[in-house]
Amino acid sequence: MTVKQKIPQDFLDDLIARNDIVEWISERISLKRSGSNWHGKCPFHQEKSPSFSVSQTKQFYYCFGCKAAGNIIQFIMEYHHYTFLETVELLANAHGLSMPTLTGGKQENHQEDWALMQAIAKAYQQQLNKAPKPMEYLIARGLSNTTIKAFQLGFAPDEWRFVLNRFAKDPSNMKRLITLGMAIEKKNSIYDRFRGRIMFPIINHKGQVIAFGGRVLNQETPKYLNSPETPLFHKSDELFGLYHVRKQTQKISKILVVEGYMDVIALANHGIHYAVATLGTAITPGHLKKLLRQCDTIYFCFDGDLAGHTAAWKALTTALPHCHDGTHIFFSFLPEKEDPDSFVNQHGKDSFEEHLDKSLPLSTFFMEKLYQNHPPTSLDNKASLAKEAATYLKQMPEGIFKSLLYKSLSENVNISVEELKNPQAQPTQSRQPRPRMRPASQTKSSPIRQIITLLLHYPSIASKLNIDALSNDTTPGIPQLKHLMQILEKSPKIKSTGALLQHIEDPTFKKQLSQLAGQLIFTQGDEAAALAQALINQYLQSKIKHTIQGLIRRAEQGLLSSEEKSKLQQLITQQKKQN
Ligand code: CTP
Ligand code: MN
Repeated sequence: MTVKQKIPQDFLDDLIARNDIVEWISERISLKRSGSNWHGKCPFHQEKSPSFSVSQTKQFYYCFGCKAAGNIIQFIMEYHHYTFLETVELLANAHGLSMPTLTGGKQENHQEDWALMQAIAKAYQQQLNKAPKPMEYLIARGLSNTTIKAFQLGFAPDEWRFVLNRFAKDPSNMKRLITLGMAIEKKNSIYDRFRGRIMFPIINHKGQVIAFGGRVLNQETPKYLNSPETPLFHKSDELFGLYHVRKQTQKISKILVVEGYMDVIALANHGIHYAVATLGTAITPGHLKKLLRQCDTIYFCFDGDLAGHTAAWKALTTALPHCHDGTHIFFSFLPEKEDPDSFVNQHGKDSFEEHLDKSLPLSTFFMEKLYQNHPPTSLDNKASLAKEAATYLKQMPEGIFKSLLYKSLSENVNISVEELKNPQAQPTQSRQPRPRMRPASQTKSSPIRQIITLLLHYPSIASKLNIDALSNDTTPGIPQLKHLMQILEKSPKIKSTGALLQHIEDPTFKKQLSQLAGQLIFTQGDEAAALAQALINQYLQSKIKHTIQGLIRRAEQGLLSSEEKSKLQQLITQQKKQN
């Protein structure tokens, strides 16, 4: 997330240092102390015996059951479904700190970008009444004046420089219009992107115009033209109509996801103010997270044809990893050749909502689709059904809903839940083994991985380590180690695992580190620095050994150059000295 980098790291370090993770978590779930750690039942999955632990010294939580892990910021984001900024604000408020001014260059300029986009939207709106055609078109589609105003619909006249003439008087604005996707520069000529189209402003959740969609008034193609990706507009994160939903509804209880601009608008025109549309893309995980922050009930509406069913299945697979207990997802299919716009215009609000009431819950749609693909009439089919189902179910967060899906599948294909979860499992092994709380150091791990683990747990040892000898080494793990060392050198204030993790931007790396940190949450140690340095030396020695072995092999084949010969000699001397 780009906004994330805009909060100064210093401020985040300070925030993590001031807010004790144990205090915050224990206000939300019940924790019991054991040694320097605290244990309780994990809030992120259903469980009978506690496998959730929180470390005060490390300012870090970890669940041995579902592997949820992170610092205080992650906990609040996950637990309350807050955004990063909302979380930072909450933690800052708790200590009477005011939010820092966001830094990062680009952010500051957006104020002018938004103002410009809003002014363009206004200019398009004014054009609606200048010629008869556009307004006639909207009226013919049944829209009321209130709806047209509510969505700030407008018209881009069929001119090459309507926007340019009005908004690009100075050259810096000309550049801005190109960056914002409103003008196109091609072979030394510049012209408006949108010409002769009904204009649909795309408005973010704060009410700022960030992009446009434009529709032709006739049968020309392309029917719709959208703004390209710009610094303001990331198609895969935005939902058309979400601002309208939030404005119209005090407490949002459900959101309906449809395909088109006109579907959202026609539904609102009929008093259904809870619809949003993706912008010509399939639903993304970003969309889902955004939706589930508003409410826990989502309806997807698709065409009744094959394309609609394919799109629905895609939405289902995207939604599965987000199906926590308490999340309700439904699928509604319209009769063929209908879309929500045509349906609501023809049959009205009540009929549309009755149709929606008949939606399939995600679980039903999931099972039906799997049975369709693998009719469970033969053992072969049952096996392939079980296999496909398991690959999907695996992605779901732990919980009762997931267990029920497993159970229902198990009954239908006559395979135990245990075997569905783990096809290689021995059938006799009926009870699931409890996750073992064993420190990772007991398992065999490369020296570099062990050093990274030590650094994670005892960030303060960084100042005592010398990794100069690794400077030209690009072996997997080393660049990551160097990255951590750099962070710790730059921010010596980092005292805990949780604080260190907040500096990692790459989400995959952050996840790997969180898992490492969690595995070792119970280990203690005061010789960490010496151990880490010894591991570095051990690594260097084994590297010399391998190089020597390689060179000797080449020597045996008579392939050694004189340069390599002297290198070999030098390495052997070095090795002797170290031993
Ligand atoms: N779309 C697009 N580009 C196209 C066609 C469609 O971006 N050339 C997107 C638009 O967001 C559109 C949605 O896909 O709203 C649905 O497309 P479609 O079903 O073809 O259009 P309708 O919404 O039915 O449009 P209308 O009712 O205005 O004909
Ligand atoms: Mn339509």
